Amino acid sequence: MRRFPLIITLLLTVSLAYYIYTPLPDALQEQWKLMLLDASFRTITYTAALMQWFGFGHYIPSTRKYVEALEITDPEFLPGVIVSDETFSGVPVRVYEASGGEGGLKRGLLYFHGGGWAYGSAKKGASDKISRIWSDELNAVVVSVEYRLYPEVQFPVPYLDCLTAAKYFLSAEVLSKYSIDPERVAVSGDSAGGNLAAAVAQEISQDSRMKVKFSAQALIYPAVQALDFNTPSFLQNQNMPVLSRFFMVQFWMQYLEADLSLMGQFLSNNHSSLQQPLLTPKLRARFDWTTLLSPEQQKDYRPVVADEGLEGILEKVPGLLDVRASPLLAELEVLSKCPKAYIMTCEFDVLRDDGLMYARRLQEAGVTVTSVHYQDGFHGCFSLVFRPLDFDVGKRALRDYINWLQDNL
Ligand SMILES: *[C@@H]1O[C@H](CO)[C@@H](O)[C@H](O)[C@H]1NC(C)=O
Repeated sequence: MRRFPLIITLLLTVSLAYYIYTPLPDALQEQWKLMLLDASFRTITYTAALMQWFGFGHYIPSTRKYVEALEITDPEFLPGVIVSDETFSGVPVRVYEASGGEGGLKRGLLYFHGGGWAYGSAKKGASDKISRIWSDELNAVVVSVEYRLYPEVQFPVPYLDCLTAAKYFLSAEVLSKYSIDPERVAVSGDSAGGNLAAAVAQEISQDSRMKVKFSAQALIYPAVQALDFNTPSFLQNQNMPVLSRFFMVQFWMQYLEADLSLMGQFLSNNHSSLQQPLLTPKLRARFDWTTLLSPEQQKDYRPVVADEGLEGILEKVPGLLDVRASPLLAELEVLSKCPKAYIMTCEFDVLRDDGLMYARRLQEAGVTVTSVHYQDGFHGCFSLVFRPLDFDVGKRALRDYINWLQDNL
């Protein structure tokens, strides 16, 4: 009987290894770190979902609490950067000002953090530290926007919060208060924040009342459309850490106020079926990856187009066709007025083709685009640059981003 504990220990070890182990593509480096990170996220999500099931409130606020407990926020990081919490026309923002620097006018950088329109904060963890780095290295005033999130709000509120903050930031008084050069202000964001940055950049460039406009946009693995969840990258990376296809579709449905019980229909593209009268051929062409991606980017995937589908869904969920939620659907003429762009994509990311298609459409509209693709990149790597959760590809991506802004802003 003395062997019994040994067997239990063995069984537990094997189950734990099985829980953590996820087969990953060879091109991804630092695999065990990524697996551990993914297993932590899974544990947090399952626990929060279980809590909700037991009646302890919505799973998103509990998930946020668990994630925050893991995040290391360091108020002493780069003490040369002056940090203050302000409100821009009622929208809370955190402002990072480089002290010293080259003197004279500074760059301006408006940033929207990622997190599926449901998670994340300007003030916490990596987001806060990275803003300090940008401010310091770019001699910039970085404004990171604390827009409201799901489940407290849904589209268009997060977008409108970001737009309000943008208009306030670009006003002559505010730029002069912070000593910012009006010719050198960029808008940027990652993931859901990249979606907001692209949409806000479009709106500002259309608005003739705005005297000062953004001179650059930097989009990090942005989500730009919700009509095709079967792009090659959505299919190839459906179970890739840290963002699965299921979670991305869920984020979209929550943001756009779609009935979550329709998940299966959205996963099979029933919401953009051929029988949707609102989806004209002209509109379809704007998210048609068989023409917007190169043959290499298409790999061996075939388009998934449902014949019939979900009747009336585009009327019920108007955000699906709204360019403020899906900037990829904008007309060429709108895109042509947008500022030059830096678009970062990762090979192992469901959103890869979103970014590539947006880069292509901006280029077709005559916008200068720097498209940077990481063959060993995965969704989220841009924020994973601090020990112990640091990844080489993330550090390279952060460096390239700073270099581009240094040269283009
Ligand atoms: C998609 O729509 C078709 C036609 O209405 C239907 O038969 C099919 O079950 C739907 N798919 C899902 C996953 O709901």
